[in-house]
Amino acid sequence: MVTKLKEGVYWVGVVDWDARHFHGQELSMRRGTTYNAYLICDEKTVLVDAVAEPFQGQLIANISEIIAPAEIDIVVANHSESDHSGALPAVLRHAPDAAVVVSKRGAESVEGHYHRPWNFRKMQTGDRIDIGRQELLFVEAPMLHWPDSMFTYLTGDNILMSNDAFGQHYATALRFNDQVNQDELYEEALKYYVNILTPFSGAVARKIDELLALGLPVDVIAPSHGVIWRSDPLQIANKYKEWAAQKPENRAVILYDTMWNATRRMAEAIGQGLAEEGVDCKLIHVGVSDRNDALVEVFKSRTIVLGSPTFNNGLLPGIMPILEDIKGLKFKHKLGAAFGSYGWSGEAVKIIEKHFEDSKIPLAREGIRCKWRPRSEDLAACRAFGKALGEATKSD
Ligand code: FEO
Repeated sequence: MVTKLKEGVYWVGVVDWDARHFHGQELSMRRGTTYNAYLICDEKTVLVDAVAEPFQGQLIANISEIIAPAEIDIVVANHSESDHSGALPAVLRHAPDAAVVVSKRGAESVEGHYHRPWNFRKMQTGDRIDIGRQELLFVEAPMLHWPDSMFTYLTGDNILMSNDAFGQHYATALRFNDQVNQDELYEEALKYYVNILTPFSGAVARKIDELLALGLPVDVIAPSHGVIWRSDPLQIANKYKEWAAQKPENRAVILYDTMWNATRRMAEAIGQGLAEEGVDCKLIHVGVSDRNDALVEVFKSRTIVLGSPTFNNGLLPGIMPILEDIKGLKFKHKLGAAFGSYGWSGEAVKIIEKHFEDSKIPLAREGIRCKWRPRSEDLAACRAFGKALGEATKSD
């Protein structure tokens, strides 16, 4: 089913209600996703972005509701990742003479994915293509979120097709932001930002400033995932600027793994200490929790408290993925602290502190260890540790 955005402009994408993971198994999606593609029927016919390869038949069927796919003159591939480019070979089988419009880096990455001698046209920021009544204006958007990423702006109708930027992994029956539950929408928009765009926050802020400085009227922001922003569309650009500043709340998150509940009891006592200081915190047992949701709590929090028992002279393996993410997502304005129980060698706290150092997160306080199961005095020390972390969390 297609959805009309403006006269001659249609959403021809697909809704994937069943998707639960993205980037392989790396990113969880509780509410599915959409792959948005847009068809513009002017003197020239333009397809902006495609969909994932398993949905290519649905894309072709959607386009066929409007025009014969062979009539497509221009295919814009704003970004080469296969959730958007997977159906390009099918589209170009129908329209083999179509120009494939890409950013400079996109020429490399699209060719690198498909190894086809397509008729590539490389665009730079400010380049335009006259399509009749309107023009396509291109804005390179490197690192939002790949080097090849590009925005396509449709003059006249004032539609910014922003590819991954401003998206959400959010399957919906209705296509526009004013038609869906706002709490769900922003929960998914934030989870998407945290897990995909946080490391590029500087580029995000600069690109939004650059866009606003262009003074282009924006009636619609049409990303490649989730709902289309037609009601107060710049609300999501402003929200991205706020998120890009990475200003945390004065709260903490305690992330831990545990074998026989000794480290769990330490976590609970540290949480009590934080609460005694009036600092809100969440305890997340990473062994049984969604890592991508936990990272949203990391993003919101000033203080990250990480705990693991010592296991084989190291950490419990279950906590390793989130340590890798904390480093890779390059969080700013954080404080760290480590804790953990041990029976024999007891290296875990030092190893976690090294991870904080590698992640450029300063320690709020030297970590705390507990040998064997915590006694009441150990738990009292953990509460005091939590209180000290609470003071540090509130100090800025
Ligand atoms: Fe939606 Fe970067 O792919």
